[in-house]
Amino acid sequence: MASQEEVFKKIVAHCKEYGFVFPSSEIYDGLGAVYDYGQNGVELKNNIKKYWWDAMTLLHENIVGIDAAIFMHPTTWKASGHVDAFNDPLIDNRDSKKRYRADVLIEEQLAKYDEKINKEVEKAAKKFGDSFDAELYKSTNPRVQEHIAKREALHTRFAKALNDNNLDELKQIILDEGIVCPISGTKNWTDVRQFNLMFSTEMGSTADGALKIYLRPETAQGIFVNYLNVQKTGRMKIPFGIAQIGKAFRNEIVARQFIFRMREFEQMEMQFFVRPGEEMKWFAHWKEFRLKWHKALGLGDEKYRFHDHDKLAHYANAATDIEFEMPFGFKEVEGIHSRTNFDLSQHAKYSGKKIEYFDPELNESYTPYVIETSIGVDRMFLSIVCSSYTEEQLEGGDSRVVLKLPAVLAPTKVCVMPLVKKDGLPEKAREIMNLLKFDFKCSYDEKDSIGKRYRRQDAVGTPFCVTVDHDTLQDGCVTVRYRDTMKQDRVKIEDLHNLIDSQVNMRHVYRKLMQ
Ligand code: GAP
Repeated sequence: MASQEEVFKKIVAHCKEYGFVFPSSEIYDGLGAVYDYGQNGVELKNNIKKYWWDAMTLLHENIVGIDAAIFMHPTTWKASGHVDAFNDPLIDNRDSKKRYRADVLIEEQLAKYDEKINKEVEKAAKKFGDSFDAELYKSTNPRVQEHIAKREALHTRFAKALNDNNLDELKQIILDEGIVCPISGTKNWTDVRQFNLMFSTEMGSTADGALKIYLRPETAQGIFVNYLNVQKTGRMKIPFGIAQIGKAFRNEIVARQFIFRMREFEQMEMQFFVRPGEEMKWFAHWKEFRLKWHKALGLGDEKYRFHDHDKLAHYANAATDIEFEMPFGFKEVEGIHSRTNFDLSQHAKYSGKKIEYFDPELNESYTPYVIETSIGVDRMFLSIVCSSYTEEQLEGGDSRVVLKLPAVLAPTKVCVMPLVKKDGLPEKAREIMNLLKFDFKCSYDEKDSIGKRYRRQDAVGTPFCVTVDHDTLQDGCVTVRYRDTMKQDRVKIEDLHNLIDSQVNMRHVYRKLMQ
């Protein structure tokens, strides 16, 4: 069986071969951690964005959207704390000259302990069979207990070092744990230093020179600086939310794992403004709703977990991640943060404007507290592609690669195919396409054998193939072939629309979200 690493390599290759994701400016050998989306990738990405946008703004009458500029007044980033505190701790290996994030090296060490614990438990489960009690085993087996104790000690020490901003201690942990550079295999580490992740550029020119501005590292600040505009012009009453989808930029030190960590990426963020003191209630509410949103896609409930932050960002009083099981382990896809009134208060302080809300029910003014949900479009894309990629052995020794994408997100919903390129079948196929194409993204394929055409559609995740044959001209029926089961049904042309709609219309998922 292929290792997870090999599977991931195949997924990356598949994304390129089938027009989902290309390295940026590839003819010039690419640009580190920057990617372009191809003809299928952009459709999948747009569908993800639609699912999120509608779940926020269509299903919640108290959430509205905006689209703020990427460039913002530079004081924004001073006020938000990003100029002073948006740093990653980096460390270099002197032998390989490779640069790493110190916190990531330690997190990987923690994951190694988890792996050891899981291996022991799996081994014992095989040995003891049905009567095996994993929890009891973990709490009594001396070897497992030893691993757990080491993991806990490391975790406590790591969390303290992060919270104290103690860079020397981070280095000491790396040395004490015997963490080596994966390239050189040595422990010849430099000291840990802070590295600011914001890209800067210059705008126009003033008498004193050009103005230094930043490419936004999160979309959220575009929402905060527009809080008053939207609240007033939309006559919004607390609690209410502002949603936004847009590009963000971070000069990531270590950019690995394909589109998981990019230097230019896209976020879908929503700031929900609430009464002070009610933030924990809303934090719990949004945790629940966001997990439901993910699970409604049907990728498997067991693939998600919450992970509370060891170190809270400078603005937060509670924070959790929704993690998804990627081929390289459980990884953050979305963050849910209780940001207090930090951002609005800071912008009020730096701008000199009063940024408050008059609450008619309480008859008082206050600076609203904020719950933020923040998800990366690209990470969501990666999680969906990874969990949909399937290699199947078929009867007769044949095999296929199929992307079992949620039908609502699939780039193409239906491919219409005439069995042969003659006898009026292409014309009939075009007629059917004309019936469907205003509601569903369709493609047309008349080249190669039907088997080959099915494989091509499997590889890009098209849920329905519709074949027009000679009988179609007589009985008005077509053969519908389903991607996942490969089963085929004879369906009347006039029933096609309803059949496809029942699987691909997002309305059905929205209903689930509201239950
Ligand atoms: N406004 C809050 C904020 O930006 P974050 O946890 O730094 O919080 C939110 O980022 C989400 O943005 C992450 O959960 C992740 O999905 C995505 N994200 C962050 N950095 C990324 C990167 N370098 N490449 C791709 N996605 C990234």
